[in-house]
Amino acid sequence: MTETVTMDKIVAFCKRRGFVYQSSEIYGGIRSSYDYGPLGIEMKRNIKEEWWRRTVHMRDDVVGLDAAIIMHPKVWEASGHLSGFNDMLVESRSSKRRYRADHLIEEATGMEVEGLSPEKLTEIIDHDDRIKDPVDGGRDFAPVRPFNLMFETYTGPVKAPENVVYLRPETAQGMFVNFKNVLQTSRVKVPFGIAQMGKSFRNEITPGNFIFRTREFEQMELEFFVEPGTDEEWFEYWLGERWNWYTSLGLNRENLRRYEHPKDKLSHYSKRTVDIEYYFPFRGWSELEGIANRTDYDLKQHAAFSGENLTYFDQATGQSYVPYVIEPAGGPDRMMLAFLVDAYIEEEVRGETRTVLKLHPRLAPIKAAVLPLTKKEPVASVARDLYGELKGDYRVFYDDSGAIGRRYRRQDEAGTPFCVTVDFDTLEDKQVTVRDRDTMEQERIPIDSVRERLRARIYG
Ligand code: GAP
Repeated sequence: MTETVTMDKIVAFCKRRGFVYQSSEIYGGIRSSYDYGPLGIEMKRNIKEEWWRRTVHMRDDVVGLDAAIIMHPKVWEASGHLSGFNDMLVESRSSKRRYRADHLIEEATGMEVEGLSPEKLTEIIDHDDRIKDPVDGGRDFAPVRPFNLMFETYTGPVKAPENVVYLRPETAQGMFVNFKNVLQTSRVKVPFGIAQMGKSFRNEITPGNFIFRTREFEQMELEFFVEPGTDEEWFEYWLGERWNWYTSLGLNRENLRRYEHPKDKLSHYSKRTVDIEYYFPFRGWSELEGIANRTDYDLKQHAAFSGENLTYFDQATGQSYVPYVIEPAGGPDRMMLAFLVDAYIEEEVRGETRTVLKLHPRLAPIKAAVLPLTKKEPVASVARDLYGELKGDYRVFYDDSGAIGRRYRRQDEAGTPFCVTVDFDTLEDKQVTVRDRDTMEQERIPIDSVRERLRARIYG
């Protein structure tokens, strides 16, 4: 990361190169909604693929799940979301703008007020003159009130209260309500986990910072069920695993830290929560992912509300218990912003500025570009054949237009780790030039070894 990375720069870059667009842009856009373009979707898929590979496929104690977004409304009663999934909303009477009361207070005074009651927040706002409406400087605020973040809709044609349903605000509850199904159908034994990725929705009062906080976003969550008493050890284990996941994918350690939630600020279900935070140059330290010890709260709540027995019978000891849950919960949108910011570099090369995305090859949208030095035959056919050979393995790009230097620069910006150039000598010596994105070094290798060599360097 260089000092020059600003949010404006990243947003403009993402649009120019087809990573992320403002949603519905031709209609003026809609706040907090974004679309992933051709390069963006490849990168986001790679992030999700890496998470799934490491969390599910490489383990024999985790299975996957894809639960519905619209669940039975009782789920949200049992989980506590209906009564407690609120942000504190304050409205400025002068500008008619609405703000998150805790953010407004924190930004004006530096006080930490998350978790305080609406009454307490109202009192602070009323008595502290430093707290002003950021738009017009006014101090005419309505009393703070809780605002539930769940999106409501209706099932069926009748918009009646009995038909109200919610878009899930987290994927986690899908795992808890399927705990028994998974136990009965997949021969898992505690300790084991259920992993899921998919869309979640929150009617955030103040979304912002591009794809960092949006109202529609994706989550990647693991609910790992453990025997009570072993939970603290498993917590440490998953904290370490998740930390290593980020660093093994190239995220700069200096921009990562752990943040321990103070005991008095923990969510209602949590015994301990530690966030893995990333230092975004435009917003400082911010949560990338939270690791929570959710205890037996959710299973017990669902057992009580559904009447189902959600205990686990341990055949080895003959004992039954409700497992504790360790939950690493992150989101690919926010991770993608961190990986992009971390990899974005502008450097001087021979008097010119080179913009390069030094992404880990596993995350790079395009893994290799095949660049024939000329459009003419027979060079073009040799290059096309190589492209055909590689493209089944991963995303490959074929580019035969423009000066070769320009073509390299385009791939540098896209984060493509390898460019393979086919030239006139290839016809004689059956070799091609492989250029490394980061070092810009070039190596001549036999054309029939390209597939294996690249595979080793990308996935090795
Ligand atoms: N099940 C626990 C849970 O949902 P969370 O900290 O609210 O915990 C987990 O969310 C992760 O989901 C966050 O660390 C973040 O990566 C992502 N996330 C949450 N809200 C988001 C939003 N509005 N926009 C983008 N990502 C979000």
